[in-house]
Amino acid sequence: MPDIESLLKEKRVFEPSADFTKRAHWSKRKADALRKLGAQNPEKFWAQMAEEHVTWFKPWRKVLDWKPPYAKWFVGAQTNVAYNCLDRHVEGEHAWRRNKAAILWEGEPGDTRVLTYAQLHREVCKFANVLKGLGVAKGDRVAIYMPLVPEAVVAMLACTRIGATHSVVFGGFSAEALRDRVNDAGAKLVVTADGGYRRGKAFALKPAVDEALDGCPGVSAVVVVKRTGEPVSMKAGRDHWWDALMATVSADCPAAKLDSEHPLFILYTSGTTGKPKGILHTTGGYLTHVACTTKAIFDLRDDDIYWCTADVGWVTGHSYVVYGPLAVGATVFLYEGVPTYPGPDRWWSMIEKWGITILYTAPTAIRTFIRLGDEHPKKHDLSSLRLLGSVGEPINPEAWIWYHRVIGGKRCPIVDTWWQTETGGILITPLPGAVPTKPGSATLPFPGIDAAVLDEAGREVPARAGGFLAVRRPWPGMLRGIWGDKKRYEDTYWSKWKKIYFPGDGAHRDEKGYFWILGRVDDVMNVSGHRIGTMEVESAIVSHEDVAEAAVVGRPDEITGTAIVAFVTPRAGMRAGRELMDEIRAHVTKHIGAIAKPADVHFTDALPKTRSGKIMRRLLRDIAAGKETVGDTTTLEDYSVLAKLRESEE
Ligand code: WTA
Repeated sequence: MPDIESLLKEKRVFEPSADFTKRAHWSKRKADALRKLGAQNPEKFWAQMAEEHVTWFKPWRKVLDWKPPYAKWFVGAQTNVAYNCLDRHVEGEHAWRRNKAAILWEGEPGDTRVLTYAQLHREVCKFANVLKGLGVAKGDRVAIYMPLVPEAVVAMLACTRIGATHSVVFGGFSAEALRDRVNDAGAKLVVTADGGYRRGKAFALKPAVDEALDGCPGVSAVVVVKRTGEPVSMKAGRDHWWDALMATVSADCPAAKLDSEHPLFILYTSGTTGKPKGILHTTGGYLTHVACTTKAIFDLRDDDIYWCTADVGWVTGHSYVVYGPLAVGATVFLYEGVPTYPGPDRWWSMIEKWGITILYTAPTAIRTFIRLGDEHPKKHDLSSLRLLGSVGEPINPEAWIWYHRVIGGKRCPIVDTWWQTETGGILITPLPGAVPTKPGSATLPFPGIDAAVLDEAGREVPARAGGFLAVRRPWPGMLRGIWGDKKRYEDTYWSKWKKIYFPGDGAHRDEKGYFWILGRVDDVMNVSGHRIGTMEVESAIVSHEDVAEAAVVGRPDEITGTAIVAFVTPRAGMRAGRELMDEIRAHVTKHIGAIAKPADVHFTDALPKTRSGKIMRRLLRDIAAGKETVGDTTTLEDYSVLAKLRESEE
């Protein structure tokens, strides 16, 4: 764990400001009391959160049913996520929110839309009726493959309203990636758009859907949002325009009363081996977790304008763009395009224009802006901001300090939030009105969360010693399984220790108990805050006809955190060179998406392997990073392979 050294030098501490603390939902006193309750009686703590933050149609018989590694939360209770995100803001006690903006949206070309809670409620009810009309029933799966337009949010909420389980597939993924995910989840309907805007140009989505669906016999209908107006082909009997269907349905659709453990969504994420894992989340526990963390950590208030820059294709977009913020009745800003179009100040101009008060983004974006120069944010009035957040990878202290100084004007607390697709919601984080922050540390576990740093044997390591991050007690937002693969769920997360969740990250704690996350300990690469498995990229490369074998590893990259480096052995007689390199990169883009495209490709006659034939990625990582090879190489099958790889570096 080599990062420990550099992190030890970080001594700066930032106390919550008096101004912030005065108004915070969770004052220091409240946070301390809840932390104590969460430690002594976690079930009571979560029950209190569930009562405070969620409206239930039927109460639970039991808070938690824990048969490791399977948890059920709020057993026997009924609720509905869409009801909590919409209906309770348009009727009853909070009916005054009817005409409050739920979504403020800006397209990349500069077009804008506003949907009030009443309007969003109406759209969701209508689209829920569209889904029903197309034969979607409770328990069915629906794939959503869209640009970041309000209809993506409408589609998600409409599924939850009728108890259909959605699987959002990031619009940047390829047709093949979409096909695999549609088939794995057994989706019967796909919601998509003709395309969207990126970097000043329209990109197409519908052709990728057509290509994917050639191999998806289970899909009977496709609903297409018109966004760009570019021509698309519509298959008669299967494809329908969103607007045409919406014009035919009623706006009356009561929210289904769903069991607390009803499947809410599946979201695919990378693992170390094989195909992506369909992470399954359910209803009542997930909603409790995201609603209470949103309120406590982002301190969301009715007069805030909150912007989480994630796409709805990632878990951050599920939990902290859609479900958490809408559950607490917030105004959510959405932006369709890239951060630097038409100029490097696009984000800052929108913060000024809309008066955004809370910004939640990823370290990779922050590092990009640092490189682009301070003059761009400085051109704009960012004084509306009052809180900043970070997620997706460890934030380096320099980036933290820049974010604090240049974007936050030294007045905004920063919440560095650690969590995963699997955890559903934030687990380790500062509480902005209560917990002093240290640049580079996600600080302390959220109340009720029993996180620790353990060694291989499951013993807690001493302060400052590196180890494995672990969660020792179940929590309401935790994954309930991997779709269709019980064994993989048990093996991946619950086999390292007994009854303890293993997230796959390394960490250490300081004397104050603060957590410092050191990154993944497995082979999963974190590129721009997105997890990419080595296996998927390797399979894509090897599927190129001129390639015999491939291994990919990550190397540190100033902007994206990690860049993908591929080591490739061409088939006998095939010539390695620029042309093949370009083809390989294009091949990966086609099979997975541009996000997985290798930054470097090295050709080699052979890959370093152990006697049992396992590729020694540790060695490749050193070579990719240009480091001297250290550590044990005695299991290397062929020393000369290493020497040759090094030569090709020179
Ligand atoms: C990493 C994103 C350090 C970590 C919500 C984790 C972080 C993986 C942080 C999950 C953070 C996320 N500090 N590392 N604040 N947040 N990570 O599933 O390695 O896309 O395991 O979920 O991102 O990525 P995922």
